[in-house]
Amino acid sequence: MPDPVTGLPVVGMIGGGQLSRMTHQAAIALGLSLRVLADAPTDGAALVTPDVEVGAADDPAAVAAFAKSCDVVTFDHEHVPQDVIRELVSAGATVYPGADALRYAQDKRAMRQKLSELGIAVPRWSNDPDGLPRPYVAKAVRGGYDGRGVWFIGPGDELPDTDLIFEERVAIVHELAIQVARTPSGKVRCWPVVETVQKAGICVEVVAPAPRLSTSLAAQAEEIATTIATELGVVGVLAVELFEAPNGLLVNELAMRPHNSGHWSIEGSTTSQFEQHVRAVLDWPLGDTRPRARSTVMVNLLGGPHTDLANSLPAAMAESPTASIHLYGKGARPGRKLGHVTTLGDDLVETRDRARRAVAVLRGED
Ligand SMILES: Nc1ncnc2c1ncn2[C@@H]1O[C@H](COP(=O)(O)OP(=O)(O)OP(=O)(O)O)[C@@H](O)[C@H]1O
Ligand SMILES: [Mg+2]
Repeated sequence: MPDPVTGLPVVGMIGGGQLSRMTHQAAIALGLSLRVLADAPTDGAALVTPDVEVGAADDPAAVAAFAKSCDVVTFDHEHVPQDVIRELVSAGATVYPGADALRYAQDKRAMRQKLSELGIAVPRWSNDPDGLPRPYVAKAVRGGYDGRGVWFIGPGDELPDTDLIFEERVAIVHELAIQVARTPSGKVRCWPVVETVQKAGICVEVVAPAPRLSTSLAAQAEEIATTIATELGVVGVLAVELFEAPNGLLVNELAMRPHNSGHWSIEGSTTSQFEQHVRAVLDWPLGDTRPRARSTVMVNLLGGPHTDLANSLPAAMAESPTASIHLYGKGARPGRKLGHVTTLGDDLVETRDRARRAVAVLRGED
């Protein structure tokens, strides 16, 4: 049901976190307003959109009631159960990405199997805890994020008591990610490959484009992302996390939504991942994805022991006037992703320094 004032379609997003908040921000620029199903009224997106409903993403009644007034329903996380999505679709809702595609972002076993079938290289893996030599990496099939659900298992270690797959510990040269958007009519557009830096399983920094990547591997990553988006029938933004290993690229993980590795695109690309996601799920033409600068650096702001944003936000603005600061409307707790900072420039080292300095000040370290 289009918006009664503008006549423009209504996009509903299930999940009210920062991805939803930033998608709302992009939707506003297009004359839209995101409709949000949030877990709580204090969720980042619920704080900033008037059109919010509070309900659980796995509650079929809440999801169905929410979807009724949306022209298209999409997600800011992977946690809507398959049967809930399928019920929505049989009741007449348009849902992107669809359940068949989303399955591969919800279930790491299904994802590893499918990519292997498509001939896309993934780390050597097994369903059998004795199928690989230790040390190896055990991964929860469902529900992991920010390194929760990933265990490095040595010879004497006990296995966690959950559904697991097992994979070789890859000798990672660099971690990379590539994002691609696909429309229901099959148009596809990639952003440049980025390098991601993780600490303790959490992404802390992203550099776009990946500064140490050969043009042939960059082209290969684009081909991998395009193949996955097309073969899995993804609609919206797809993020493909990759390992650059000594023998080439391996796909680590898929996310079918805007993703932390794409936040750089808000300032760093002509079309941000959030705007592109909205365009894609509405089957509108996709925007240009070229970078605006030689280097764009995004540094995540994780809460520290002394983070006090009321004081540190103006201090960071004073320290780094060229840093684009994004805060997600969260209370500061150690380790929590509270926001990010993006800088653009010609010189990677100087550009990265500016972003890191701003984040250090925001954390209350300087
Ligand atoms: N097979 C592997 N070999 C070596 N390191 C790995 C392997 N798998 C994962 N890692 C490391 O652990 C990190 C987190 O793994 P992964 O992305 O699979 O988990 P996640 O918790 O689902 O993450 P996300 O927050 O991206 O959803 C990776 O970015 C990488 O640094
Ligand atoms: Mg990951």
